[in-house]
Amino acid sequence: MSGVFQPHLLSGKAAYVTGGSSGICLGIAQLFAAHGARVGIQSRNREKLDAAVAALGPHASGYAADVRDFDATAGALAAFAATGPIDILVCGAAGNFPAPVTAMSANGFKAVVDIDLLGTFNTCRAAFELLRKPGASVISISATHGSHPYAAQAHVCAAKAGVDMLNRVLALEWGPAGVRVNVIAPGPVDGTEGMRRLAPTAEARAEVARNVPLGRFAAIEEIAEAALFLSSPAAAYITGTILTVDGGVSLNGGRFLARG
Ligand code: COA
Repeated sequence: MSGVFQPHLLSGKAAYVTGGSSGICLGIAQLFAAHGARVGIQSRNREKLDAAVAALGPHASGYAADVRDFDATAGALAAFAATGPIDILVCGAAGNFPAPVTAMSANGFKAVVDIDLLGTFNTCRAAFELLRKPGASVISISATHGSHPYAAQAHVCAAKAGVDMLNRVLALEWGPAGVRVNVIAPGPVDGTEGMRRLAPTAEARAEVARNVPLGRFAAIEEIAEAALFLSSPAAAYITGTILTVDGGVSLNGGRFLARG
């Protein structure tokens, strides 16, 4: 439960979260469920999905589908919508591995761009008619990679820059329907697969923390609280924005990863 917000901010609402079986997006699903939302989560891995749904409680359901597959994602969203109207969409499924361009195959680049960017497009495109109503909220989880270049992250940087721009276009197109569309750009977040891959040693973690003005990683819950804010009536006039939640690391030229 959030330490900042009063409980039940999302009572009577339903949220669909891709990538919701682990990491930041599981944290978002947990916080939304704690605030009274019905939650549907989508993930590729059936085992992780089942474990997450069990942890989320009786008002949660899970859908096994790859966001790269439009038809599978549309089918999963339709199955969740059959249980009641959708109010909130969180596009969070993502992939990453550190590799310089010379060690990255075309398929490796494509795998990440397809999960992060095409997957976000697929999810938003398939969900729009299901959540189209004033007050609906769409959030995509980007990263400071969308605005800062990092060595060994060409695929993620390109994909997240695309996610940031896609969401600004969607905010323009869907604003007249009353649907708000925003991005959260986290910096380094503790307890995520991404940071396990990018900073696998104690030394690497310390180097990351040294470059963050606030001097530490974010907790998953701190990203979830930003998502809760953006999905709540407190953000009713906010659309098309990128909410950076990075402890100030992007002020530092975003320098917290390997510089090549
Ligand atoms: N270095 C270089 N290339 C790599 C790599 C690495 N560490 N890991 C994967 N690849 C390449 C593969 O070799 C393959 O390319 P190839 O066909 O030319 O050999 C390509 O990436 C796709 O890999 P594959 O494992 O078949 O794809 P996938 O769809 O099963 O997995 C990934 C997608 C690669 C993003 C994988 O890392 C993943 O599933 N990640 C999910 C979890 C995650 O990354 N979480 C962090 C989110 S921030």
